[in-house]
Amino acid sequence: MRTLVVDHPLVAHKLTRLRREETSSATFRLLAEELVTLLAYEATDNLTVHPVNIVTPVSPTTGVELAEPKPLVVPILRAGLGMLNGMVKLMPTAEVGFLGLVRDEESLSASIYADRLPHDMHNRQVFVLDPMLATGGTLVAAINILLERGAKDVTAICLLAAPEGLARLEEVYGSSDAKVTVVTAALDERLNEKGYIVPGLGDAGDRLYGSV
Ligand code: URA
Repeated sequence: MRTLVVDHPLVAHKLTRLRREETSSATFRLLAEELVTLLAYEATDNLTVHPVNIVTPVSPTTGVELAEPKPLVVPILRAGLGMLNGMVKLMPTAEVGFLGLVRDEESLSASIYADRLPHDMHNRQVFVLDPMLATGGTLVAAINILLERGAKDVTAICLLAAPEGLARLEEVYGSSDAKVTVVTAALDERLNEKGYIVPGLGDAGDRLYGSV
């Protein structure tokens, strides 16, 4: 398993604004989108491309294009939806699947309530969008489904990660053959007794969409 904590002044600046409790939902959504685009640039460093012959106004040359099958982007409902625009802005030809996972606030375990994913993901590079890597339960449940359906590799893009969540992923995928990468803007201190990341940014879904 590979973990990449993106160290960049713009990422740190936008994350700090996201964290502030006075940041409104409208601004939060905008910042989350911009932040994901920056993280996505780093997260797509191993996209498969193939050579292509083209002609510029000056001469023929060789370039590259994204290979088939197209990458698949999977936002985890509901908070992952706030990361989708920022991702597809960078990779407009990607396909999008949806996965709804809900976390039981007592047991902190995750269960599926919506599955709009292809059944066959052989050879596909998959990007999972989940803003908060807290206990890791949701992400492990999501990544397992993608790997079971044949995903070639899975990259999780998270705005924030807790050491407990990363340790859980390491425990599950660290010594397996599965190609799993986590890309995040920051590794925070810890989880509190309610499973929230500290210092974190609160409930990402509520901050994006309100507490419906
Ligand atoms: N989910 C959130 O939205 N926030 C946290 O801090 C942890 C999990």
